[in-house]
Amino acid sequence: MADGKPRVFVTREIPAAGLDRVRQECHAEVWSEPLPPPREVLLQKVRGCDGVLALLTDKVDAELMDAAGPQLKVISNFAVGYNNIDIPEATKRGIRVGNTPDVLTDATADMAFSLLISAARRVVEGQDYIRAGKWKTWEPLGHIGQDLCERTLGIVGMGRIGMAMARRCRGGWNMRVLYHNRSRKEQAEQELGARRVELDELLAESDFVSVHADLNDTTRGMFNAAAFRKMKKTAVFVNTARGPLHVQSDLYTALKNGDIFAAGLDVTDPEPPAQDDPLLTLPNCVIAPHIGSATVSSRNGMAEIAADNLLLGLQGKPLRCWVNRQ
Ligand code: GLV
Repeated sequence: MADGKPRVFVTREIPAAGLDRVRQECHAEVWSEPLPPPREVLLQKVRGCDGVLALLTDKVDAELMDAAGPQLKVISNFAVGYNNIDIPEATKRGIRVGNTPDVLTDATADMAFSLLISAARRVVEGQDYIRAGKWKTWEPLGHIGQDLCERTLGIVGMGRIGMAMARRCRGGWNMRVLYHNRSRKEQAEQELGARRVELDELLAESDFVSVHADLNDTTRGMFNAAAFRKMKKTAVFVNTARGPLHVQSDLYTALKNGDIFAAGLDVTDPEPPAQDDPLLTLPNCVIAPHIGSATVSSRNGMAEIAADNLLLGLQGKPLRCWVNRQ
């Protein structure tokens, strides 16, 4: 461009807290439709761009990097997770990749916490019951859910969000905390008395299993029929990380057959689920539309970091939150 400003494509409107600066400092094209750009449109829009600000709904792979061209310097993901991006491919090409951690930790842990309690105490099922006109009187034997105090929480993936969830359950309900993680987390052990265990032990012992792991080839489908069968019949499964961590048809069967008591999901596979996905018919499955980070400060914070990452990457500087730094 004659004025020297870089060209960027922003794949959806994000909060002004970040977008305004991107617009000021770049020739920015912003996709302002409510749905993501279709693949062929995305490939065409990124052509000649120096930077792309992408969402978790955009697949950023070699094809997209080829379509953009060799001047592409930075991909800034408006998310903490980056399973939508082929990181080795970006690294090979010297393209910097940024993400938006920390600012959504509390909001996402709050979501996990609210799904856990909603599923355990049958809150949404109760609301459906009222709306269907079935509530006739106070029922001594009706709507019985699971206790929360002094139970066992199993965290799978003890990163920032897993830790924040464990703090809530330990501090609020004095839960015993087990965790399964690639590496030992001394802070969790010291602060919360958490114990690192193998997955099978966690599944067998936990009253609540909350998943906070990255989605990768090792973790994909880790919550399958065999895993659900290892859990307590009274257990509640919570997934606020990525849908493909669970096998959705196996989860349906486990909930339907009473292998586990209930589930609370902020993520599904696919997203959104098909309208005729049988999971949507189950009273013991609470589902939210992937809104873990949907609070004012989280989304503004994500927009600020995503803008910083984009602008820094365009200048060839270290990103604020840099996924492929090495
Ligand atoms: C949301 O799922 C994120 O990764 O930020």
